[in-house]
Amino acid sequence: AESTDETQTSTIDVSDVEFISDGVLTMGCDANYPPFETIAEDGTTPIGYDIDVMTEVANRLGLELNVVNTGWDGIFEGIDVNYDVVCSGVTITEERKESMLFSDSYITNYQTVVVPAGSDLKIESLNDLDGKTIAVQKETTSDIVMSDLKSTNTIDVNIVQNEKVTACFTQLTNGEIDAVVCDSSVADSYVASQSDVYEIAYKDKEEAEVFGIAMGINNTKLQAAINQALADMEADGWLEETRNYWFGD
Ligand code: ARG
Repeated sequence: AESTDETQTSTIDVSDVEFISDGVLTMGCDANYPPFETIAEDGTTPIGYDIDVMTEVANRLGLELNVVNTGWDGIFEGIDVNYDVVCSGVTITEERKESMLFSDSYITNYQTVVVPAGSDLKIESLNDLDGKTIAVQKETTSDIVMSDLKSTNTIDVNIVQNEKVTACFTQLTNGEIDAVVCDSSVADSYVASQSDVYEIAYKDKEEAEVFGIAMGINNTKLQAAINQALADMEADGWLEETRNYWFGD
């Protein structure tokens, strides 16, 4: 094909990759997860850091991006059925790596405790949530980390599991819980937009959670292509600029 001014000169070759839909990279996400993915005020357009990253990845692979907004519950089961990849603030974990492939990291987060603004709760570790009622999004790493502390009797904590992270923040606003435990970028975004309502009590900087794009366990060619795109985007500053746009620096 002839290259024009708009097209990139070096599109990454994906001719040997099979896609759900030809010429399209289809991504699944839970678009209730600001600032990674939410639906814009028009009620239909998905926006967020993950959407921007995947639009750019698709572009560098010579593909269109199609976003499928599914819930978080069962999201990984849709890989290779309803979408090619899941990009939804997903933490790369050893357990998840048993059933799917991950791209290299495109952002790092930390477990974060959010409390009502002005709260006198002193949290210096997750163990300080002993005796408290907290909310997490069900089957996220926040849920897993807190449930582990409880099941090993490290602390006695009452865990409210919600399908959507947005519900956790509503419960905190309504005084139904003492704290929300969630990813740091989500916590930061809630606090930044409503600093009179929420405040960060603690960020577990000791345990970095690295986020990746998830895909089918056999899709090594797509994994290589996406990793190439991400490496290029890191090298030419695209990722840094986009992270600064969504998360500040
Ligand atoms: N990073 C956490 C995990 O992987 C939470 C991700 C939740 N993402 C979402 N779009 N609801 O478990």
